[in-house]
Amino acid sequence: MKNEQYVCFLQWALPQMRMRWPGFRKVRRQVCKRLDARIRDLGLTGVGEYQAYLQEHADEWARLDSLCRITISRFYRDKGVFVTLAKEVLPLLASVVHKRGDSALRIWSAGCGSGEEPYTLAALWDIELQSRFPQITMDIVATDADPGMIQRALDARYEFSSLKDLPESWRNLVFAREEDTYCIKPEYTRGIKFLEQDIRQEQPGGHFDLVLCRNLVFTYYDDALQRQLIRRIVGAMHGGAALVLGIHEHVPEGAHELSMWFDKQRIFRKIGDRN
Ligand SMILES: C[S@@+](CC[C@H](N)C(=O)[O-])C[C@H]1O[C@@H](n2cnc3c(N)ncnc32)[C@H](O)[C@@H]1O
Repeated sequence: MKNEQYVCFLQWALPQMRMRWPGFRKVRRQVCKRLDARIRDLGLTGVGEYQAYLQEHADEWARLDSLCRITISRFYRDKGVFVTLAKEVLPLLASVVHKRGDSALRIWSAGCGSGEEPYTLAALWDIELQSRFPQITMDIVATDADPGMIQRALDARYEFSSLKDLPESWRNLVFAREEDTYCIKPEYTRGIKFLEQDIRQEQPGGHFDLVLCRNLVFTYYDDALQRQLIRRIVGAMHGGAALVLGIHEHVPEGAHELSMWFDKQRIFRKIGDRN
């Protein structure tokens, strides 16, 4: 099927799901492959027929929505972000947590993929920071709308390609190797709770010291939905907490409670009580 046909179809369908075409432009292959499979399953001949099918079957939109989840991730993605978290952000947040009289640094990894981001954080804390803050633990809630991704996160088994950005010295510490598969050691899975949640419908309870929402809301959703979701995300953060976006993402207009903390790494801080 012609590329232009997919592009036309996506440009027509995405806005109706409150998504934005520019976010998908470079990564559309993943969606197109799934679309092909869906069109075959339905016995249709092409994207034009699928468009007509969608217009006649309102419940197909939910299916299409799930086909549009881009699931690309890897450990230690955007190295500079994790270096800044380790050197600047987490030590400060850990002190704030301690002064507040709490014993756990609460983190929300929103759109956690198959666990690469939360496991990177758990490893970073354990390897670089735990000994400096023995009284503090890291509690991570990792959410993703895709049940398959949550299952893969719980399985915690990866191919080398997912690990290639990770500092080499960490590999043997964090993973047990079984032939070509790298399995997260149990000590790095403790303290992480994985939940199947669609960020448009629900979010984990309580307040967080650090939220990572990278390469999801602020890439794929339209402006109005971004503005709606940033208000909810900020509402789930303690005063002084940090928010990390993807390095090509921007905070939508109206998020007045956030100030830039580390520009290049897209790390923001919520104004308010910083202790
Ligand atoms: C591109 S990956 C990013 C993973 C990780 N945050 C990173 O930056 O490497 C986006 C993830 O968001 C998940 N996702 C898509 N739509 C979602 C939604 N509405 N709510 C929660 N997760 C969603 C996808 O299943 C996928 O795992």
